Amino acid sequence: MIKNVLGIETSCDETSVAIISDGVLKSNLVSSQDFHNKYGGVVPELSSRAHLQIMNPLVKSALKEAGLEFKNIDLICATAGPGLIGALLVGLTYAKGLALSLNKPFVPVNHIEGHIFSGFLMKDKPEFPYLCLVVSGGHTLLLIVKNDLEIIKLGSTIDDAAGEAFDKVAKMLGLGYPGGKAIQEYAENGDENSIVFPIAQLKTEYDYSFSGLKTAVLRFLQKEYYQNIESIPANELNNIAASFQKAVVDALIKNVKKAISNFEFKSISLVGGVAANQKLRDEFKKIAEINKLKLVIPDLQFCGDNAAMIAERGFRIYQSGNRFELNANAYPSLPQDVFQEYSHR
Ligand code: KG4
Ligand code: ZN
Repeated sequence: MIKNVLGIETSCDETSVAIISDGVLKSNLVSSQDFHNKYGGVVPELSSRAHLQIMNPLVKSALKEAGLEFKNIDLICATAGPGLIGALLVGLTYAKGLALSLNKPFVPVNHIEGHIFSGFLMKDKPEFPYLCLVVSGGHTLLLIVKNDLEIIKLGSTIDDAAGEAFDKVAKMLGLGYPGGKAIQEYAENGDENSIVFPIAQLKTEYDYSFSGLKTAVLRFLQKEYYQNIESIPANELNNIAASFQKAVVDALIKNVKKAISNFEFKSISLVGGVAANQKLRDEFKKIAEINKLKLVIPDLQFCGDNAAMIAERGFRIYQSGNRFELNANAYPSLPQDVFQEYSHR
């Protein structure tokens, strides 16, 4: 019988450890590597080294918070990919070593699947089948989640991920890294209709493209301000952020609406780091109300990278009957066969 599940997440620049006991989240610690800010992006080598230093102390703190000891752990789940290989290997190898020493089962978890099932960390959980929009720094995916084992990919980004677009535009505007939250904050005081940035029109029904939008912002800055961000008036900075945010959200929502009119769903779910965006959350709420669908958007602590979603997903995989040897490898990108491809008309 599995009572206490340990989750470990080290795919990028967050070290996270979580414990779920009898379906109740007892601890979800996240240690963010803020020092990457000054490099304008995550430096892989530094990320791996920081994970190494904090891994064991963080597991001990999570156990303490949950009132447990190592010997009480029944199942160990860790992110195997996609992500930075060096970073992944720290958490994965630690988890496998722990499983070996405690003689307890180990489950390698796909990070994106962690996000997809993060809605199950909420009190009010998604009901199958549900439409899931995954928006993170590395991925943008529109999926039909039929059950724990069947996920159909309707569409994905053909270039930049939504979060990546936020980060790149934030960098252009001098708002630091990662920039999604900063764009949202500036956008709050701006007029989202002041500048019309284009939304990509793709031939495939449910795919996304954000690279053209990013270039449109760059062209605007070059034309209006000779790319000298210092010369942009504060109010105009707010307007650019708001107009850009509107373009991303409109593009994301367009395909969600299309999917809802073409398929039957019981719920809709918005997950991943960009799911923290208030405008996107508000739009999802409106769509759910209009279409009388159950809406599940995880709390902010479960939108960004966290180990609670890894523990949750790992436990669900284990409960589905899957068992794993200790030879699981880390992988940098999303394997082709994780989701079933939807055959487009
Ligand atoms: O899922 P996540 O934490 O990490 C990955 O797996 O990539 O997502 C990180 C992304 C970053 O691109 C960050 O800028 C974006 O989520 N993000 C936001 C907001 N908060 C975080 N984007 C828009 N609005 C936000 N409030
Ligand atoms: Zn993520």
